[in-house]
Amino acid sequence: MVAVDPVICEEAHALREQLNEHNHRYYVLDDPTVPDAEYDRLMQRLQQVEAQHPSLKSTDSPTQRVGGQALSSFQSVAHEVPMLSLENAFSDEDLIGFDRRVTERLKLPGALTYACEPKLDGVAVSLLYREGVLVRGATRGDGATGEDITENVRTINSIPLKLQTDTPPGLLEVRGEIYLPRAGFEKLNTEARAAGEKLFVNPRNAAAGSLRQLDSKITASRPLEMAAYSLGRIEGEEQPEAHSATLDLLRSWGFLINPHVEVAADIESCLSYYQKMAEIRDQLPCDIDGIVYKVDNIAFQQRLGFVARAPRWAIARKFPAQEEMTVLKGVEFQVGRTGAVTPVARLEPVFVGGVTVSNATLHNQDEVARLGIKVGDTVIVRRAGDVIPQIVSVVLDKRPVDALDIVFPNHCPVCHSPVERVEGEAVTRCSGGLICSAQRKEAIKHYASRKALDIEGLGDKLIDQLVGQDLVNSVDDLYRLNREQLTGLERMGSKSAQNLLSSLEISKHTTLPHFLYALGIREVGEATARSLAQHFGHLEALYSSSQEDLQEVCDVGPIVAHFVHEFFQQADNLEIINRLRAAGVQWPDITPQDQQLLPLSGQTWVLTGSMETMGRAEAKEKLQYLGAKVSGSVSAKTSCVVSGTDAGSKLKKAEMLGVEVLDETAFLALLTAHGLL
Ligand code: IVH
Repeated sequence: MVAVDPVICEEAHALREQLNEHNHRYYVLDDPTVPDAEYDRLMQRLQQVEAQHPSLKSTDSPTQRVGGQALSSFQSVAHEVPMLSLENAFSDEDLIGFDRRVTERLKLPGALTYACEPKLDGVAVSLLYREGVLVRGATRGDGATGEDITENVRTINSIPLKLQTDTPPGLLEVRGEIYLPRAGFEKLNTEARAAGEKLFVNPRNAAAGSLRQLDSKITASRPLEMAAYSLGRIEGEEQPEAHSATLDLLRSWGFLINPHVEVAADIESCLSYYQKMAEIRDQLPCDIDGIVYKVDNIAFQQRLGFVARAPRWAIARKFPAQEEMTVLKGVEFQVGRTGAVTPVARLEPVFVGGVTVSNATLHNQDEVARLGIKVGDTVIVRRAGDVIPQIVSVVLDKRPVDALDIVFPNHCPVCHSPVERVEGEAVTRCSGGLICSAQRKEAIKHYASRKALDIEGLGDKLIDQLVGQDLVNSVDDLYRLNREQLTGLERMGSKSAQNLLSSLEISKHTTLPHFLYALGIREVGEATARSLAQHFGHLEALYSSSQEDLQEVCDVGPIVAHFVHEFFQQADNLEIINRLRAAGVQWPDITPQDQQLLPLSGQTWVLTGSMETMGRAEAKEKLQYLGAKVSGSVSAKTSCVVSGTDAGSKLKKAEMLGVEVLDETAFLALLTAHGLL
């Protein structure tokens, strides 16, 4: 074999060290110090060097994370130290009982210290390191024997291929959970849906499925993460005296440790930790199904030992389930503003993910076919995070003999016009257009809604009556309503009629973003309407814009450009706009701006509490003017929270998640700095 030039050896070594360091900063610390392009350059250089000098390749090289040769089967792995499971607690009393048993067994006079950890909902794994290098990854299996998934775990970026220490223990077995963050799960399913493939039921199944791949290149394409939560074995180094110190040691070696792990001085603090985590559960980036409490002192753990297949020193307190079974009682078809006919499942009410769910969308015909669902079926409903409830699967074993097929109507359930399905689209639409009272009603509801023209007092029931009695056919008719017509309606006294007429007057003074949103152009939501308004400045500029011009607007792709262009090409739509303007609807023009250059573009802000100097709507518009998105809930992705007086749970969440918080004075200073005050 030809010896490799020592300079090249040195370079390869240095590249690996740098790439491992950047990888750790990016995937474990979430704090990268170099741009992606620089990482890619280093990686390319290392790949080049290894290709030219194959003897330099090694299994712990960062180039090996992309997956390798497919296997024909997985080998089995015997766990020298069995991988146990946990006893469950379902209430505060169960947890207090656990603490009492443990304290009595240890004959302790005082309170016990516990490590409190999120119970991550993924797949348990064991990772083996020899002299600091990852040599094996295995599933838990039945606890005694698992499967060798080394090739697959190597592709997971948050797993160190080499420990970050110059003095690694001779042997180390680390245990933890591999999981798929919710964003990755949604992305995988969006892609699968578009490709007409089978969807994953939940992030845990998706993580398990991704690890079960014989071809590690497939695993490499899934954005899996791993958090370490315990030590299986260690040789050549003393285990720290506390579990929490063990996690600190693992963190220092490069493992990801869940950022919400805390040490509680007594069982009362454990109970409040549970409450705190239950509150922020929906905002976390990954599914957790409970909290694991572990006696922190390792000597105590050893004294307590095990029962059957679970340790006496730990317990899992479960959260309310995010998936439950219920029965599909029927399906109704709803017609939306754009004519989309959506099947809505009527369910036997079921408590899931903290709320009672009795309806769930079935999206469209493809989704119904994919689920293979029938009326009468027992189904699994999932509600997790901020996502609306979904039916994820059918329990076929429980299908009754008289289960009924879901038949899509050929005619609109409201106006009876034929329904049509455009080639390549999943949605079935009513062809009635404005003949269809359902579409008209929805268009008017949208126009009057808070984010559009915000017409106070014009609620859904009133719109149903106005359209039902032919008083309003299109939005401009609203401005021709008079007091006599209104007082003739159900539950409408002269005072309410007067109030509504005043609200209609007030609504005439609007802004271009609100007006554009109110028009109900397909695929144009609040944010797109704002981008369009800020880019073009005035409505006429939109009339004459081509699809190419439109695609220059931030976040506008070919689909949105197509719908916007089509909307302004239709004479009927221009006619309605003219009639609205003739009725007095008006807005100031805007000085066009380049979205990407706005000071807060790309950031998400949250407003909470009340401010003395301005209302929430005004504060929101100012932030949006500076390019920020304004959201109603705090999550790890929130850039900043503006907190007025009487701020409640949002402020608490922000503090827990370590999100920056500005008080009113600081917020006003920011606005002044940008010339908005
Ligand atoms: S400790 C003997 N800690 O929960 C100790 N387990 O039934 C056993 N899990 O499949 C594990 N998060 O994979 C522990 N922070 C955590 C955990 C956790 C999730 C899973 C684990 C196992 C199940 C226990």
